[in-house]
Amino acid sequence: MRSLILSDLHGNWEALEAVLARADGTFDRVVCCGDLVGYGADPNRVTAWVRANVAEVVRGNHDRACSGMDDLSWFNPIAREAAEWTLRALDSENLAYLRALPRGPIDAGGLTLAHGSPVDEDEYVATVEEARMIEGHLPAPRCFFGHTHLQGGFEYRRGSVVRPHFALHRPARLHRESWYLVNPGSTGQPRDGDWRAAYALYDEEGDELTLERTEYDVEGAQRKIREAGLPELLALRLETGA
Ligand SMILES: [Fe+2]
Repeated sequence: MRSLILSDLHGNWEALEAVLARADGTFDRVVCCGDLVGYGADPNRVTAWVRANVAEVVRGNHDRACSGMDDLSWFNPIAREAAEWTLRALDSENLAYLRALPRGPIDAGGLTLAHGSPVDEDEYVATVEEARMIEGHLPAPRCFFGHTHLQGGFEYRRGSVVRPHFALHRPARLHRESWYLVNPGSTGQPRDGDWRAAYALYDEEGDELTLERTEYDVEGAQRKIREAGLPELLALRLETGA
């Protein structure tokens, strides 16, 4: 089974479309680590596509916030404004779908999906120290997560935690005896200094992981954000990936 792993789509249809075009023919199914909506101007189109095409999805904090399940007072003003706009924009079917998404981690057959940490869906795992703190709490040896919008992963091997280097576009065979916690990166709002849409491919049979990036119509996504009246910063940050 070859899985296309997406995370943090954030209502960016142009980015999702580019990922699907580039990944075409390289996967058997799609799975998602959450945050389908929030920030971007196409929450309905992205959610409808996920509903129709993604086998396994966990909810993200923005899926909760944008479907009215959370108190927005702890969001920063820009995220809150985007969440309120998204809640108004979502149609009833997409809203119901987002509200029913399961909390991670979930077993997706051959791999596990979480949004934040496998221990807490709202917790960020960005550093080796943070990854070390949840050693012993990983539910399975091949776990994928999102939330940080940072592409890359952590390897748990013989009592130590390291950050393995995965070259882009090149399949890497994982170590059988190691456990991995891998972030495919954000498709819709990368924050690791690379504006290109991120995703990952995992081939269960060969135990091979490939991290990918692809250029997309960032100007188109920005134009929609501005036309929707969403905060300008949300358009600007897409072109820097910051
Ligand atoms: Fe996110």
